[in-house]
Amino acid sequence: MTDAPDNAELMRTAELVAREAGDLIRSAVTVSVAATKSSGVDLVTEVDQAAEALIRRRLAELRPEDGVLGEEEGRHEGTSGLVWVVDPIDGTTNFVYGLPSYSVSVAVARADDEDPYAWTLLAGAVHAPATGRTWTAGRGIGAYAESERLTVAGAASLDTALAGTGFAYTAERRAGQARVLTEVLPRVRDIRRLGSAAVDLCLVAEGRLDVFFEQYLNPWDMAAGALTVTEAGGVVERLGTGVNAVTVAGPPALVADLVGVLRPLLD
Ligand code: IPD
Ligand code: CA
Ligand code: CA
Repeated sequence: MTDAPDNAELMRTAELVAREAGDLIRSAVTVSVAATKSSGVDLVTEVDQAAEALIRRRLAELRPEDGVLGEEEGRHEGTSGLVWVVDPIDGTTNFVYGLPSYSVSVAVARADDEDPYAWTLLAGAVHAPATGRTWTAGRGIGAYAESERLTVAGAASLDTALAGTGFAYTAERRAGQARVLTEVLPRVRDIRRLGSAAVDLCLVAEGRLDVFFEQYLNPWDMAAGALTVTEAGGVVERLGTGVNAVTVAGPPALVADLVGVLRPLLD
């Protein structure tokens, strides 16, 4: 065991490797779909795989004692008790279609629970290669877009809230999400489905979305973004357990109101 690093240093490392992966993604000239995953609409490209490989290689150099949990290659155990939670491209569908809302999401957590969703998040970075925008957060040191400190919107009420959401890849899960949407849509200002949960959470942190909800997120979709929301003064609630939970993020009062709408729909 080495001395515990400070969260600012971890935040800088998260940003560094996310930007390096972003450079690789930006320089990828052609995008060829390497495979599909959970269903025929769940794409993975060679660029997703190369970006995760780069992040793992860099973390092995910079933080050799830490573990890694990444979307493409799974869990690698470390010895330090810290685990990096990595989505090399969050929003692959946008990436493949040339739409800008996709990101590299890198977080580091203390793996103090069997459940990765319950790990203590220490630092994270979300980097959107197409726009160059980068959000960072460190436990106890705030959330930032570049050097600007972020605060969630003071949004008034649910009926004037712009809500972000997203959908899973299987038809069965989507059918359930569509039923929930029919109840939420009439109660909010509008809905946005932008295509990268990590970016959506950062947009909540900077008040460009008022609130966010999505069921079936994986730890790597949300780790960096969730810390960005809480460090910006928001809350992240999970209704349910594991991957089946609905994640709700935003200012405390709005999250409470949206949870009030969602909870009865999930029983
Ligand atoms: C997806 C994106 C999307 C969300 C899906 C995720 P991927 O991640 O975050 O916004 O709605 O639930 O799976 O597959 O592009 O890494
Ligand atoms: Ca993802
Ligand atoms: Ca991904």
